[in-house]
Amino acid sequence: MKKLLLVAAMTALAACSQEGDSNQALADANSSGNEATAAVENAIKQSNATPLQKEQALALMKERHDNYERIGKAMRQAKQGLDTNNLQAVREAAATIDELAPKAESWFPAGTGPDVGKTEARAEIWQQPREFAAGMAEFRRAAAQFNQVAAGSDVNAIKAAHANLGKTCKSCHDRFRLED
Ligand code: HEC
Repeated sequence: MKKLLLVAAMTALAACSQEGDSNQALADANSSGNEATAAVENAIKQSNATPLQKEQALALMKERHDNYERIGKAMRQAKQGLDTNNLQAVREAAATIDELAPKAESWFPAGTGPDVGKTEARAEIWQQPREFAAGMAEFRRAAAQFNQVAAGSDVNAIKAAHANLGKTCKSCHDRFRLED
């Protein structure tokens, strides 16, 4: 029994002296001044910034969705223009898609995936970045070609370029977009 008490007392002492040490360390850190304080302030700022980063991510995801809606609308306008022989409408639509296509890859920064918020973007986009980038490259090429051909008046060539562009949408969606 005596032995046990002794051990307890020693443990308490040891704990006490450890506390003393860490208090001393804190005092040292404080007296070493601005550097340590700045580091702590930065850490606090960063942890406060986290919710804002999430808001930014959600804003980016909304913008991405809106941009794709514009692309979808332009594709429908192009189809309608082809069906009604309204080449002016087709050209407008082709120019809109060609303007947006080169930007599309930048709409997928890390941290804007399905783990962050509601989106149809699949996690595979960030797991297979090379394949996704290849899909984007095909899309850009097809969009540029459609825009170029639409400037002319060869309706069959315009239809073919439109269909070719549509294939690049579908192949990426099949692989990287969730079904509705
Ligand atoms: C390289 C991949 C890729 C290509 C190419 C691509 N898309 Fe998409 N698209 C996506 C992804 C991923 C989403 C989901 C985005 C999200 O929900 O954040 C999407 C979303 C959309 C949406 C929104 C759907 C909805 O209901 O929310 C439309 C419309 C759309 N795309 C149309 C098109 C059209 C039209 C083309 C071709 C002219 C095209 N996309 C080409 C990957 C692609």
